[in-house]
Amino acid sequence: MYKIIKIYSSEENKFKNYKVPINEGMVVLDAVIYVLEHFDSTIGVRWNCKAARCGSCGAEINGIPKLMCKTRIDSIEGDITIEPIKVFKNLKDLVPDVSDVWKTKKQIPYFEMIKEYSNKKNKASTKYMKIYNIDIERSQEFKKCIECFLCLDSCHVIREHKTNYIGPMHVVNIASLDMNPIDKKDRREFLNENGIRYCNITKCCTEICPLHIKITDNAIIPEKERINDKKIM
Ligand code: SF4
Ligand code: SF4
Ligand code: FES
Repeated sequence: MYKIIKIYSSEENKFKNYKVPINEGMVVLDAVIYVLEHFDSTIGVRWNCKAARCGSCGAEINGIPKLMCKTRIDSIEGDITIEPIKVFKNLKDLVPDVSDVWKTKKQIPYFEMIKEYSNKKNKASTKYMKIYNIDIERSQEFKKCIECFLCLDSCHVIREHKTNYIGPMHVVNIASLDMNPIDKKDRREFLNENGIRYCNITKCCTEICPLHIKITDNAIIPEKERINDKKIM
């Protein structure tokens, strides 16, 4: 059995077609690797783990942001088109320029640990902070993020509107810090200045996340509520 795999060529600004033999269990990344090995070794493409762990193989597969290494070929009917994530500038073929994402990440206020309550003169009166499992578990969900950028690609606010919204991936990162029980930094001003209000909680990012992080319900909405709390205070 064969499939027509259509890969975007940035040099020619069009899709180029390749006929690829399909075996049981193949994922889209296998087909791209076949094309590299048998037809054109110059195609620009990123991948590392082939296990949905490194986040580098994100692309739009038949128009939907997905990981190439996690998308089975038998889940797609007909031809398969593969193009780069469109929310970034293109470097070559399937490789986007993600340098701005790392610049934004550097601007996020860092982790700052709370001071221990301690009385060095009298050890018996030292107070310890009790941390409950539920407080740990809340931020653990966000630690699953593999920074694949697919949620950024799916966000219509970023794709279609000229706003300064930093986007769901960064909000997940901020929520991971904010919900850490031993962090005391206040990131509400940063989120406010970086457009979180533009998110209208459509949940497209949540639907697309390959790690099934509940981005909207568990990260964005609680962060929006925190900002409102600050305004009320
Ligand atoms: S919920 Fe917000 S961040 Fe997620 S895709 Fe929709 S507008 Fe973008
Ligand atoms: S939140 Fe999900 S979709 Fe967004 S970057 Fe992290 S793993 Fe990818
Ligand atoms: S190759 Fe690492 S996530 Fe796909």
